[in-house]
Amino acid sequence: MTELNVNNRQLRADVEGDTPLLWVLREELQLTGTKYGCGVAQCGACTVHMDGVALRSCVMPASAVPATARIVTIEGLGQTRFKVVQEAWAELDVAQCGYCQPGMIMAAAALIAQTPDPSDDDIRSGITNICRCGTYPRVLAATKLAAQRLRGAGAQR
Ligand code: FES
Ligand code: FES
Repeated sequence: MTELNVNNRQLRADVEGDTPLLWVLREELQLTGTKYGCGVAQCGACTVHMDGVALRSCVMPASAVPATARIVTIEGLGQTRFKVVQEAWAELDVAQCGYCQPGMIMAAAALIAQTPDPSDDDIRSGITNICRCGTYPRVLAATKLAAQRLRGAGAQR
């Protein structure tokens, strides 16, 4: 039995300890927004947040996730201040086929959390997710737009 805090809910999943977090999210908790791509920590399709930091969930054993760690998936991001990232994505029409985009959005949100005013190089080196459709220029533009809006929101508080 693995206990997890996912999207602000404390949940239990009856899985073997070495089951990757990705499969607990998708198969046990039906949070299918997080995608399977390579399975070897290369493509980023499976990116979620653990305590605000991007994590490739395909190589993270569920048993290694502390019960107190806060996991956020693409389904929960809209309840956080990073909803702005999803809005920027929609506004700039970033997605093409869309498969890689949940992971891209999670990677962008984690990058902005660490680097509120990212340069183009910060984005290129910080978001290493793979997009077969080649949406990289729009990912870059949307990340900058979201970061700019979040900085504005911070200034108003
Ligand atoms: S599926 Fe996890 S990095 Fe590719
Ligand atoms: S939008 Fe198709 S793989 Fe990225």
